[in-house]
Amino acid sequence: MNPSLFFILILGPWCFGNFASATESESLLKVMEAWKANFSSWVGDNPCSGWERVTCDSLGRVIELNLSNAGIVGPVPANLVDLKYLTLLDLSNPRYNPGPLWNAVSGDLAGLEGLTNLQYLDVSFNNITLDSFPSAVFKLTNLVTMRIDNLRIGGPLPKELLNLTKLEKM
Ligand SMILES: *[C@@H]1O[C@H](CO)[C@@H](O)[C@H](O)[C@H]1NC(C)=O
Ligand SMILES: *[C@@H]1O[C@H](CO)[C@@H](O)[C@H](O)[C@H]1NC(C)=O
Ligand SMILES: *[C@@H]1O[C@H](CO)[C@@H](O)[C@H](O)[C@H]1NC(C)=O
Ligand SMILES: *[C@@H]1O[C@H](CO)[C@@H](O)[C@H](O)[C@H]1NC(C)=O
Repeated sequence: MNPSLFFILILGPWCFGNFASATESESLLKVMEAWKANFSSWVGDNPCSGWERVTCDSLGRVIELNLSNAGIVGPVPANLVDLKYLTLLDLSNPRYNPGPLWNAVSGDLAGLEGLTNLQYLDVSFNNITLDSFPSAVFKLTNLVTMRIDNLRIGGPLPKELLNLTKLEKM
């Protein structure tokens, strides 16, 4: 075997593992910049080294992001989808009451559409007013739990929800 090919085969997964963390740290920081919040533990370029509210798997990929009561404000940033390994996303805000100082997620949730590995999604208690169910959710076919309490969503429950065949709790 060509020795340099051998070298690539051995080191490939290890290099890509580290690479993923570095780009995920950038994605996380961009997401929080868009949502106008940040955490003092989010320093350096490895989110798996003790960044609060972040959980990684054994391969060093960010799989859980818990921004419950984090004071985030504004629409779901387009680059949230770069965190493509996320299985759990908690954006709930149960400590806040609607009012002028209500820091909350707003908009149509379109930014969630590409997070197809999500199994758990909580967007409860946010500033979300929609005429119909957010269609982004229909693409999240691995969802097992979806919490959407205390939003203002009009219209009937759409039949597309039946496509979420793993959904157990809503
Ligand atoms: C983090 O948040 C604090 C308080 O809101 C702000 O003053 C600071 O500039 C922020 N830091 C970054 C890196 O965005
Ligand atoms: C997110 O963090 C909050 C506060 O620590 C906790 O109460 C909540 O259960 C967490 N969410 C999930 C889905 O684990
Ligand atoms: C709530 O969402 C609306 C519509 O997106 C926005 O205009 C308003 O500023 C938001 N309010 C708060 C307190 O975030
Ligand atoms: C739901 O599933 C059906 C059949 O598998 C498919 O044709 C349709 O496009 C899906 N709807 C959405 C909103 O993904």
